[in-house]
Amino acid sequence: MDQSIATFGRQALPMVWDYSEANAFSLMAGDIYTTIRTLVRTLSDLPAEVPGIIKNANATDQDNNKFLGLISSDPPYYDNIGYADLSDFFYVWMRKSLASIWPNLFRRLTTPKNEELIATPYRHASKDVAETFFMQGMKQALAGMRKATIASEPLTIYYAFKQSEIAADGVTSPGWASFLQAVFDSGMMVDGTWPLRTELSNRMIGHGANALASSIVLVCRSRPETSEAITRSDFLRTLRRELPAARERLRADKVSPVDMPQSIIGPGMGVFTRYASVLEDDDNAMSVRTALALINRVWEEIENALDTEFDAETQVALAWYASHGFDTRPSGELITLANAKNISLSSLFQSEVFLDRRGKAQLTPRENLPAGWSPQTDGTLTVWECVQHVARTLEAKQGGQEAAARLVAGMGEKTEAARALAYRLFQIATDKGWSAEALVYNALADEWPTLERLASEIPNPVASPVAEETPRLL
Ligand SMILES: C[S@@+](CC[C@H](N)C(=O)[O-])C[C@H]1O[C@@H](n2cnc3c(N)ncnc32)[C@H](O)[C@@H]1O
Repeated sequence: MDQSIATFGRQALPMVWDYSEANAFSLMAGDIYTTIRTLVRTLSDLPAEVPGIIKNANATDQDNNKFLGLISSDPPYYDNIGYADLSDFFYVWMRKSLASIWPNLFRRLTTPKNEELIATPYRHASKDVAETFFMQGMKQALAGMRKATIASEPLTIYYAFKQSEIAADGVTSPGWASFLQAVFDSGMMVDGTWPLRTELSNRMIGHGANALASSIVLVCRSRPETSEAITRSDFLRTLRRELPAARERLRADKVSPVDMPQSIIGPGMGVFTRYASVLEDDDNAMSVRTALALINRVWEEIENALDTEFDAETQVALAWYASHGFDTRPSGELITLANAKNISLSSLFQSEVFLDRRGKAQLTPRENLPAGWSPQTDGTLTVWECVQHVARTLEAKQGGQEAAARLVAGMGEKTEAARALAYRLFQIATDKGWSAEALVYNALADEWPTLERLASEIPNPVASPVAEETPRLL
């Protein structure tokens, strides 16, 4: 059945060649009443019951400061969307029907453009002038919000995030770095960054490993006037001291591996913005862009340091995985890795972490792992196996959650390390661009708290293993 639906799947006016052919007045599914009913349902399901007041004003206008309240803002995102241009599409038509009702709002021929806080080069002399306009205006608007907010309450700001904005050297897209710089320059400090899922779940699945939180909420407060300047090395030292605990808190709060890179910016920027400035060696103030790169670097250091806490076999497997994934390669490199960890090549094969391919070696693919495996009867138990077996069980849907929880129940003290390894493997797979693998580990880390809960409800995990047919190791 045809249905007339919204034209705007995204904020653009693309040339489309489809047109609506549904009979708008058919009184059947797909007619205009269906569309209106859907809209009405949305309105009636909205939780707001107290009437609100809407006011149209320029955010950079200092007159706005006289209101004191709780502020939550969804400002423009650098050069992402030209709202004023898009609004004209509606404005010119609405003007005809609504000008007599709202004469002030519709007194113009088109919407105002000059005050719009976006960095569009075509409205300015150059890209640099556009950037300066955005930065100054945003700083002014944010400073106004800071003054208007209640001192005891944080101010929340939404920022739409795109996968492409996470560069290899950290989260350093011009939009993101400029925006954070404006937040800092306006006298605010960042208290936290919360990833928000604002896309529909079917879209996220469509995006595969790019199923990243599409928005991020910055939680900000006023920086105390008494805050001091610190040096670059003080900044690095404080990051190294504070980020490990922050990462643990985020994991405990069930932040997915896929959302970790943005989430860790919160505590990192929290350190940076709590000081009046961070001084470089030449006494110049450090930019937000540099701070973001350093936060990312320290985060990687912390992740790498974690590797040494795993058992030796898992460390070798991690190093091999980061280079070759599940590919078969000559054993020479594996011998070197094993020697460095003071273990023998044969122990890697015996533990079934690796497969012996006669002169070559391969990390045992999940589909080749022996079914019916139990961590309690494995004489050479490794964290690597714990993760791969649980992933296989969930992936192959053999016994599903229940079977996976039974494995977790038998892991004892390796449980926490296994979850940490899932986060680590997600990061490696993402950096390598192995989307399918990244999805497996993201799902695993997300599922882990549920598996632990189910595991705690199993009275005797050894007594009732799930019977499965064991595939042969090839
Ligand atoms: C990210 S959008 C907010 C979208 C909104 N949350 C919604 O769901 O419709 C940013 C908004 O900021 C507005 N804006 C841009 N410059 C502004 C300015 N100088 N003063 C006030 N609002 C401005 C834009 O018109 C746009 O509506």
